[in-house]
Amino acid sequence: MRTRIIHGDCITELKKLDNRSVDLVLTDPPYGNAMAYGTLKRSIVNDDHPLHGLLALHECWRIQRCNRAAYFFLDVRHVPIVEKFVTQYTDYRVKDWIVWNKQHFGMGVGFRKQHELILVLAKGKPRFRSTAFPNVLTVPRETTEEHPHKKPLPLLKQIIEHSSDPGDTVLDPFAGSGSTLVAAVQAGRNAIGIELEERYVRVVHDRVRAAASP
Ligand SMILES: C[S@@+](CC[C@H](N)C(=O)[O-])C[C@H]1O[C@@H](n2cnc3c(N)ncnc32)[C@H](O)[C@@H]1O
Repeated sequence: MRTRIIHGDCITELKKLDNRSVDLVLTDPPYGNAMAYGTLKRSIVNDDHPLHGLLALHECWRIQRCNRAAYFFLDVRHVPIVEKFVTQYTDYRVKDWIVWNKQHFGMGVGFRKQHELILVLAKGKPRFRSTAFPNVLTVPRETTEEHPHKKPLPLLKQIIEHSSDPGDTVLDPFAGSGSTLVAAVQAGRNAIGIELEERYVRVVHDRVRAAASP
């Protein structure tokens, strides 16, 4: 399987990718909450507003082949902004929403959030590998020092296997620690990841190398 890891700003780097050259977009952009995360109080770049992710999504439509799906993680607070942006400024169609049940609720008092949302978008009429798929995925969250937002591989793998074929290419413009690329490699897909922070690019290289030679 081929993997390509690009160190740079995805808004610039996506413009260099060919039209209709990837099959599946699966990405987890900075949510735009401007927060420090976890007990280590780590922040991530470009977490000041949700537009960074949306601008990348706008470019992804051009790069994706027709009749494919795109998955976009987001915080429930940004649902109105994201839905409005996608319907008004991109050619994607909002197909569905998936709830990721993390089986663990965050620190603090009151009603603590135990889920995150994944927006399912359609370019044309996506073909899926099974006729039915649950809209709640229950997978324990990851806690690691590698990245404050590392997503669990079983969650990503389920989505990849449902929405692409072996040998297809998966794109993640906000690669972080590279979980999407690792899940793609494990599922027998090619992968392209873009990450702005050099320290995480190194993590992606290490994880992809390990996944490719288990
Ligand atoms: C929510 S994290 C992704 C975590 C990833 N899903 C994982 O499992 O490790 C978002 C990532 O996007 C990166 N990022 C922010 N702005 C970016 C940009 N303009 N281009 C590329 N990467 C960017 C951040 O450095 C961060 O690592």
